[in-house]
Amino acid sequence: MKKIIKNGFIVNTEGVMKCDLLVEDGIISAMGVGFEDKEAVTIDASNKYVLPGPIDVHTHMDLQSGALRAVDDFYNGSIAAACGGTTTIVDHIAFGPKECTLQHQLDVYHGLADSNSVIDYSFHGVLQHVDKDILLEMEKLMKGGIPSFKAYMTYDSRLSDDELLQVMKTVKKVGGVLTVHAENHEVIEYLKRSFVEQGKTQAKYHALSRPSHTEAEAVARLIHISAMADYPNLYLVHISTEESLNEVRKAKENGAKNIFVETCIQYLMLTDDKYLLPEGEGLKYVMSPPLRKKKDCDALWKAIQDGIVQVIATDHCPFYFKDKVEYGLNDFTHCPNGGPGVEERVRVLFTEGVIKNRISIQHFVEIASCNPAKIMGLYPKKGTIQPGADADLILIDMEKSGVIKEDLLHGNAGYSLYEGYHYKGEIEMVMQRGSVIVDHGKFLGSKGDGKFINRICPNF
Ligand code: URP
Ligand code: ZN
Repeated sequence: MKKIIKNGFIVNTEGVMKCDLLVEDGIISAMGVGFEDKEAVTIDASNKYVLPGPIDVHTHMDLQSGALRAVDDFYNGSIAAACGGTTTIVDHIAFGPKECTLQHQLDVYHGLADSNSVIDYSFHGVLQHVDKDILLEMEKLMKGGIPSFKAYMTYDSRLSDDELLQVMKTVKKVGGVLTVHAENHEVIEYLKRSFVEQGKTQAKYHALSRPSHTEAEAVARLIHISAMADYPNLYLVHISTEESLNEVRKAKENGAKNIFVETCIQYLMLTDDKYLLPEGEGLKYVMSPPLRKKKDCDALWKAIQDGIVQVIATDHCPFYFKDKVEYGLNDFTHCPNGGPGVEERVRVLFTEGVIKNRISIQHFVEIASCNPAKIMGLYPKKGTIQPGADADLILIDMEKSGVIKEDLLHGNAGYSLYEGYHYKGEIEMVMQRGSVIVDHGKFLGSKGDGKFINRICPNF
């Protein structure tokens, strides 16, 4: 089936160009002007911006976290993503049984996603212990379609510094990417214990037990370890503080290479005063790292402008408010960590970034689509509009606006962290490999239509 997308303003990182796109068998086959074809379905994109499908490389669909499971699975979570204009996710999968292989968890997640996801997807491998077999398995997976792995410096299945060095050396050898959740576990555990011992159990102590230095120290340590592994591709997930950014900047000025920084939309938009909200409302914002100060939000925007931050993701990991309250009201340390965001990211980032003139529309494409694709090995199939790329596209009408309201969203959490937010720039249409999966807010896709994407090791 052929489609012609006519007269849109096509946005890539290099610039904006008014032209037509010819799509054949889900692939962009040509770009030009005056395309006509009687056999093709024509979509009028006049006065609309046409962007490469945004990619969220940090979601947690169907994540088991302690006693609770994140409440969006790959079916409804991917519908939420699609309706929010995201056409591909790369999911951070849950830890498996102790000592399990890397393939074990990938198999579990294929079982959860394969006939469910409505958009294209992949998984980051998850590291929870390190030995010779794991390192060999990493090499095999990196060469076979899973080039990125996640290591945690906190939580029970965290890696030690020597394990981090070993996996970094392996990543360096093959050319994959190590993504890391950087927080100083011991200090956080000590602070959590001391607050609880003093009866300081309200949501605000979640933030106070994870001060900015706990992230910045871990970031600095990680960068020093990466230097010892000759700078493999190191991707810092959900960076939230000015201090961490300073560590990255300083390291880069001193010659550190291959460091990529992700932040998430909540760290650009929301601050730690949310933890003071009454009646357990503050628990909605319990996530790790926690929300920070206004100065951190400002520093993150500046770091986007400077190119220190390359990717904006969500860390989408929703739980029901009632469960957050049941587990966390008497003790923040038992509150399930994480919140929703996959459906809100594009609209909020577009408004805050492009409409408010913090970044250009090309820069938006860079941080929401192109950089995630390049860093995570999806490019040039995804993250760009060019002949040969998948026709994953969104059409944005700059003149239209709307308000984020939970009852219009498709996630299961039952609340949005951005309730009542006025956005400008409406997503009129979402296409996945040439098929219209969302049209004026109406989901038209089908369960299982998303494909697992074999990724390639990025080449910088
Ligand atoms: O609080 C968060 N971010 N929950 C999801 C798991 C993680 O730490 O990324
Ligand atoms: Zn996460």
